[in-house]
Amino acid sequence: MPSTIAYEDAVDLLDSDHKLVQKLFIQYQTFHEFGAPAEDRQKLAERICAALSVHAQIEEEIFYPAVREATGDDSLLDHAEEEHQEAKDLMARIQGLSPDDDGYDDCVTQLADAVMAHVMEERERVFLQARYSALDLRGLAVTLHERKQELKAEAGGMPELPAEKTPTQIEENV
Ligand SMILES: [Fe+2]
Ligand SMILES: [Fe+2]
Repeated sequence: MPSTIAYEDAVDLLDSDHKLVQKLFIQYQTFHEFGAPAEDRQKLAERICAALSVHAQIEEEIFYPAVREATGDDSLLDHAEEEHQEAKDLMARIQGLSPDDDGYDDCVTQLADAVMAHVMEERERVFLQARYSALDLRGLAVTLHERKQELKAEAGGMPELPAEKTPTQIEENV
């Protein structure tokens, strides 16, 4: 039986991942500005990294090869993969630091900047090319969704998010 999913097509699924991660980066920025406890900042950073890793993997395994095949635009996809590598290097740096270290928040900010720049390019170039190609984007959404569930299960689920706090509550906790 074919899976029923909440997304219109592959681009819609991938872009909803982007929106979620953007929301988490904005939340991190608030944590940083209001000096949230290290534990909360680390939990949030770990969740961001886990979500990004799954997203990058389904793009690299399924979406990028399909777009590469359909468009023949190797330089576009090579460039996107290089940007993924840049993000992975930053994530490895974050994971090697303690949230109390100088530079931890800066590293998360650098990751946010790199990821959001990549997302803009992906929307304007990769997604656009995909939409104009003969790709079955609806069918691809199902494949992406199933692989995403599989990867999340393999990882034992996504790391828990810190409790939602208002800036005042963050300040009170310091
Ligand atoms: Fe993406
Ligand atoms: Fe990407």
